[in-house]
Amino acid sequence: MITVRVPGDKSISHRAALLAPLAVSESVIRGLSNGDDVQTSLSVMNSLGANIVSENEADGGITIRVDGGLNLQSPDSDLVLDCGNSGTTARLLAGLLVGLGVGGVLDGDDSLRGRPMRRITYPLQAMGGRLDCLIEPERLPFRVSPRASGMLRTLRYRVRTASAQVKSAVLLAGVAGRVGVSLSEPARSRDHTERMLAAMGVPVDFDPMRTGAGEVRFDPGAWDGRLEGLEFTVPGDASSAAFLLGAALICRRCLRVENVGANPGRTAFLEVLEEMGATIAREAHPAGGGEPVETWVLTPPDQLEPFEIGGDRIPSLIDEIPLLAVLASRTSGRSDIRDAAELRVKETDRIQALATNLSALGVVVSEREDGLSIEGSSKPLAGRVLSHSDHRIAMAFGVLSLDKEVKIAVDDPDCCSVSFPGFLDAIEVFGEDL
Ligand code: S3P
Repeated sequence: MITVRVPGDKSISHRAALLAPLAVSESVIRGLSNGDDVQTSLSVMNSLGANIVSENEADGGITIRVDGGLNLQSPDSDLVLDCGNSGTTARLLAGLLVGLGVGGVLDGDDSLRGRPMRRITYPLQAMGGRLDCLIEPERLPFRVSPRASGMLRTLRYRVRTASAQVKSAVLLAGVAGRVGVSLSEPARSRDHTERMLAAMGVPVDFDPMRTGAGEVRFDPGAWDGRLEGLEFTVPGDASSAAFLLGAALICRRCLRVENVGANPGRTAFLEVLEEMGATIAREAHPAGGGEPVETWVLTPPDQLEPFEIGGDRIPSLIDEIPLLAVLASRTSGRSDIRDAAELRVKETDRIQALATNLSALGVVVSEREDGLSIEGSSKPLAGRVLSHSDHRIAMAFGVLSLDKEVKIAVDDPDCCSVSFPGFLDAIEVFGEDL
């Protein structure tokens, strides 16, 4: 049995970095992700005047101590806020700035500049925010103009595609601007923002156990406008744990992953691993920061079975599809991934990247607009993989390379540090002979 822990959850860490500075009291949050993306959120908040002090923990995580009471009084709409590769930073921060009435120019690297922003500019403009794209319509960089407080409009909004980033941008604008917002989405997306706001004392109305369509409401009503400081440890990142569970399946090893975030909006991939034949025992721990925490013990099957995914399950496993796709190539049949067109607008077009790379290795794949069909086999595979600097593509093929019959060179393995620094060391142990 191999026992591991993974870095802190990236989504929760971003939200901690963005929300703790707004609290009325100090926050101490341990176990934040040490990935590049979260570092970006911390730096951006400090450049806006927050006082977030980071300390490295012995096991690689980060503790932050954050003074509350950040008062972004002196908006400077020319201040460039570089969101690097991080879509979560850019989209959530846009909502926060609009809510606070603070200006700034949001920008990012080439990958982030290519990602769609209309999904947030449209509802934020409907609330009264002024966001102007500076180079291309609906893309970064864009300027958020400062605004006198108390001028936002309430919003009732039906989001067309389930997205936690869109939902969170609108919610943060509502909370920071103290105007009511209500959102519905066609399927449930991760609800870390709602849980953290609730833990800080904000009246957010949502149902954490809801399945199917999602709804969330914030009504400032009798709220006194105070966000209480936070003190908790961020659980391990389920999406990072997924890669290690995948490594255990490829290498037929038993694996115990301790203290992982088990938010139901993130764990649908566990069901898929079970459909592939894995046995997964789940042991619950006390919740941290309003988030469920579990230890998972995986026992692999002798042979991986193919699977089908689509519909409402997709938002709850969207980040795990690169991993599931490479695992599909080592099953005993044909797997289908449908309704996942959102993958085309992630750090790279992940459907195309998966199809091209799997074919380059000799896997039979067919690409559709909304997904892939992948023929599994145990035949030898070999070739060169282009990650397009996308951490999840690089890590997925890193997992596949552990198979003794697979010989892969991945072009930019360093990009794993966006979410999982130390990933390459973490998977090495799986390839070692018993
Ligand atoms: C995230 C939401 C998801 C996910 C991303 C992180 C978040 O994106 O893919 O990696 O932290 O809110 P969408 O909201 O675009 O689905």
